[in-house]
Amino acid sequence: MCGIVGYIGTQSATEILLSGLEKLEYRGYDSAGLATVCDGQIKSVRAKGKLHNLREKLVGVEMPANVGIGHTRWATHGKPEEYNAHPHTDDTGRVAVVQNGIVENYRELRKELESQGHKFVSDTDTEVIPHLIAAFLSNFTGQREAFFEAVRQTVNKLDGGFAIAVVCADYPNEIIVARQQAPISIGLGQGEFFCASDTPALVSHTQVVVSLDNGEIARLTPLGVEVYNFDGDRVNKLPRILNWSPTLVEKHIFKHFMLKEIHEQPNVVRSCLEAYINSDWDAMNSLVSPTNLKLSSSLYENLEQVEIFACGTSWHASLIGKYLLEQLAGISTTVNYASEARYAPSPLRKNTLLIGVTQSGETADTLAALAMEQQRRLDKPAEFESILLGITNRAESSLANLVNQIIDIRAGIEIGVAATKTFVAQVMAFYFLAIDLSWQRKYLSGERIAEIINGLQKIPAQMEQMLETQDSQIEDFAHQFNDTQDFIFVGRGINYPIALEGALKLKEISYVHAEGYPAGEMKHGPIALLDDKVPVVAIAMPGLVYEKVLSNAQEAKARDAQLIGVTPESTEADVFDNVLAVPAVDELLSPMLTVIPLQLLAYHIAAHRGLDVDQPRNLAKSVTVE
Ligand code: F6R
Repeated sequence: MCGIVGYIGTQSATEILLSGLEKLEYRGYDSAGLATVCDGQIKSVRAKGKLHNLREKLVGVEMPANVGIGHTRWATHGKPEEYNAHPHTDDTGRVAVVQNGIVENYRELRKELESQGHKFVSDTDTEVIPHLIAAFLSNFTGQREAFFEAVRQTVNKLDGGFAIAVVCADYPNEIIVARQQAPISIGLGQGEFFCASDTPALVSHTQVVVSLDNGEIARLTPLGVEVYNFDGDRVNKLPRILNWSPTLVEKHIFKHFMLKEIHEQPNVVRSCLEAYINSDWDAMNSLVSPTNLKLSSSLYENLEQVEIFACGTSWHASLIGKYLLEQLAGISTTVNYASEARYAPSPLRKNTLLIGVTQSGETADTLAALAMEQQRRLDKPAEFESILLGITNRAESSLANLVNQIIDIRAGIEIGVAATKTFVAQVMAFYFLAIDLSWQRKYLSGERIAEIINGLQKIPAQMEQMLETQDSQIEDFAHQFNDTQDFIFVGRGINYPIALEGALKLKEISYVHAEGYPAGEMKHGPIALLDDKVPVVAIAMPGLVYEKVLSNAQEAKARDAQLIGVTPESTEADVFDNVLAVPAVDELLSPMLTVIPLQLLAYHIAAHRGLDVDQPRNLAKSVTVE
């Protein structure tokens, strides 16, 4: 969603701000702008649409400043028009603000400010902030701390979740940033300082960052950074070192980040295996766990069930997680859409491990569902205690602050809006968790656990071999779907979530209507949709439900549908009109491979149509509003 950047130092701010905003483009936005401070004036330039529009407006504009803030806006309050784009200023144009999040009490504040004579020119919630700051500033005239104090008083008046960066023409050597529920980090350079709502905008300048916590406000000057709480007390923060290399935010030889990230998956799985499989474990030695998750024993004590909260692709990974936790560890598991559960929670269950799954760690619905669970378990008997585990790609995220422990999925930054490598890494986290629980509860034999681990170790090489042969094959194959308007994906058992994921990937980046169904459900209604214009992709992996999926696929073929099999090359493969071949692995491990041709199919169909694969329309990488 929205993105914030800021710079204070000795270099020219404009280019640093623009390139920072480019690094945040992946988050989704529909207008952009920046404001710099120079010669006692704020210069603000804003444009509707993509960043190249802003760049065009800046051609020929003199902006020699060394201080500035920038923003990409994903419209919530008010249309994506230039007059709603950030930065917003007060009546005099001396205070400029960029904001991520939502100021919930903006209507009351705006009414109050209007009654005092302030003039508003946008439909946004953000515009109240510069007006409030300007009003407070007049109370502190002449004081050295005036700007900081005015912003501090202002944030104390705002309700909702927000992150802001503010500059003021009268205090040209300061940027003030603040956080309440929306992330913002400060990058520490040599005599220069940066701020950004997401770290990809920082890594090419510095890897030393300080992330603000909720209720914290910081002053950035060319001399350093000071952090305070909203009461004005100084807070000592320890910087951390980002372990992302700047190359992760470049496309290299790939046309799109999504394709690059699909190809990164073998290494992501390798790195998860290295981190989380205990190489000292052997099937006969039951004293140590087969995994290195290092989860506290309190997470497992008296455990009776697991309840998972997630959205979108993370919800699909969680459905595979449910299958694994139930089949490998015998633990009954429920998977909730976070957006639904928060308004219709199920009756409280005791001895339950609550898991939030979110690659960004910032999804508002997932965080709210977990916070609600935490809240309603307060003051209840011990067996209802909230025990929270997070599965995320962002060890520094809001999720990590909320839960007792996390599993860091270590996928490296994902820039493409469509989740690919973070999905397989989330699924890996569930394999590790299910194996750990299975071992703790003595549910599966050591031999079976060893067999599963052995199978997982082979996945990276199998993925590599598939990517090598299938990328160009599927690129050619995708041509024939240039005019296709509907797709159906079917799977069963552990591959039913992969059918859902294949359909979601296709919809979100190619805008082709697609549905995923459990294959056995087709005849209960959806089969009425089928004719020769609706291709059916069937995931058929040898195992418990193989024959069943083949029969369901035949039913589709009998209705003239083009039948595409995601299946091993075998004699039964001739059931299909086309085969996207998958190595014949243990069915239990197969989702790690069956997802690959579906990601490639979605990617190549969208790329053939000339669509903006990495930033599909209307979507945002991190959905920080409800
Ligand atoms: C799909 C996709 C979204 C996200 C969903 C949850 O490709 O990326 O469906 O999975 O918005 O996001 P996180 O995992 O950040 O909670």
